[in-house]
Amino acid sequence: MKTNILGLAVKESEVIANELNILLSNFQVYYQNLRGIHWNIRGKRFFDLHVKFEELYTDSQIKIDLIAERVLTVGGTPLHTFEDYIQNNQLVVGKNISNDEKAVQLIVTSLSHLLKMEREILTKSSEINDEGTNAMMSDFIAEQEKTIWMMQAWLEESL
Ligand SMILES: [Fe+2]
Repeated sequence: MKTNILGLAVKESEVIANELNILLSNFQVYYQNLRGIHWNIRGKRFFDLHVKFEELYTDSQIKIDLIAERVLTVGGTPLHTFEDYIQNNQLVVGKNISNDEKAVQLIVTSLSHLLKMEREILTKSSEINDEGTNAMMSDFIAEQEKTIWMMQAWLEESL
């Protein structure tokens, strides 16, 4: 088995880099979803939610950079054009959402999808002992699961 300078299998690392690029693309759409609801949110909870959505998009901006730099670390090239992001996107694109519940629901469905992608990457990176990618995916998964719990708790009030 041919290994790279990190001691990871070359071919399998290419697969991981490609999957991370797809995750990166979807994260960019999630990021734009968050910007959209940060800007367009209306109503009596504006001040709470406007700030909360900023907190989430700032966090996802950091994660986007981490994913892109992980792509480079494992030997790939990070995607950076809107064309590529749109082509790889699997998330619902939220457009002109101003309603608070719809906005929070968009976060939950986006994160739920990202979680699935991260678990699939984790399975593949585990198979080749790519601990760096494993650790990153584990951190993202735990954080996003917690965010989903909080968003669900917020949504329950109106059930
Ligand atoms: Fe702002």
